[in-house]
Amino acid sequence: MALYTLGINFCFLPASAQMPANYDEDKIKPYQLPDPLRMENGKTVTSSKQWEKQRIAILNLFKTHVYGAMPGKVAGLTFRTLSVDSMALDGKAIRKQIAVIFGKDANSPKMEVLLYLPVEAKSPVPVFAGLNFYGNQTVHTDPGINLPTGWIANGPTGVENNIANVASRGFQTERWQLEELISRGYGLATAYYGDLEPDHAEGWKTGIRTTLAKSLGLQAQEWSAIGAWAWGLSRMMDYLETEPLVNARQVALTGHSRLGKAALWAAANDTRFAIVISNNSGEGGAALARRNYGETVEVINTSFPHWFVAKFKEYNKDPNQLPVDQHMLLALMAPRPLYVASAVEDQWADPKGEFLGAKHAEPVYQLFNKKGLGVVQMPDVNQPVGDVVAYHIRSGKHDINAYDWQQYLNFADRHFNNPAK
Ligand code: GCU
Repeated sequence: MALYTLGINFCFLPASAQMPANYDEDKIKPYQLPDPLRMENGKTVTSSKQWEKQRIAILNLFKTHVYGAMPGKVAGLTFRTLSVDSMALDGKAIRKQIAVIFGKDANSPKMEVLLYLPVEAKSPVPVFAGLNFYGNQTVHTDPGINLPTGWIANGPTGVENNIANVASRGFQTERWQLEELISRGYGLATAYYGDLEPDHAEGWKTGIRTTLAKSLGLQAQEWSAIGAWAWGLSRMMDYLETEPLVNARQVALTGHSRLGKAALWAAANDTRFAIVISNNSGEGGAALARRNYGETVEVINTSFPHWFVAKFKEYNKDPNQLPVDQHMLLALMAPRPLYVASAVEDQWADPKGEFLGAKHAEPVYQLFNKKGLGVVQMPDVNQPVGDVVAYHIRSGKHDINAYDWQQYLNFADRHFNNPAK
């Protein structure tokens, strides 16, 4: 099978991804999932009230065994508006660029948020938020978007020697569907994940896990790159809460692939995100870790040692020993609407494992009388299912495209009852 169809991003291709992977359902080793409702004292959670405590216990297990600590807000967090254009996208949108500065001092580390809002909105709008892979300038060809100055992975057009140039503008337009979002009454907030931590094994040395170690009171090794990216999403939320044109109670957090893992971890910690969308997040995201299908715990830990805490590597040989599995991460979203999406040609991410992750989160949603997927088996291709917990598997490769966004917009319309549309 071509690496492309396995959903492997060429520019991040790790050597260990070439280790043979299992794609045969008959070769899945037997496993037993931990029960999210089973408390430490052996009793079962039976009410949403009891779940509050259990939720914290599960969150702590993920901190210890998988993603590491999650610090709170940094002191002196500052938002500086860098530019505003009320005539962006041919007069359809307002474009704002904001420096989210992690400290009082102007030289503190920062992340740049790009925000688009529909001009025609009569009231504060719901917003889709998420990190991007190659810089804000890649989400649209709009020449007013600032180019990032930091390290970017080589690979895409317009990135040379790890620096982005103007030729990278609009490189991932397809993945963001910005005009469609605006025309349907939604805003978009995004930031480049490398502003938080460059995505390579040594990235932590120049990222916020080092530069903010003192101000956050946390050593770099106590958390992870996914933790740092997720932390940045919460700081984006801090900013959105101050923006009068945004309805901060209607922020849908999205993320594709590794950034889907980060989005799930962010939303698990931060319940201000009202909707959570995992797009092809795979291993370490929505897919069950216990299934040896496509990418495994061992492979991900070997290829991307910086993504998780060191302790997670102890489960390389036997994920059955993990006290959690990813259905429990998804359960931490309850009772908020959750959408999990897969792609047929993205077997590397284990679509069935992603479906089962969502399926096994259902008992927790039931505590809140919320309906789950409404199906027992995986649905057919391009047949979305579910209400508060939704799922689809679309045709095509590892990606986030117009089809995915149509489902997410419909999902958000349904749950936000978007008045602006
Ligand atoms: C690799 C990695 C996945 C990840 C993906 C991506 O394929 O193995 O775990 O989700 O990159 O982020 O595109």
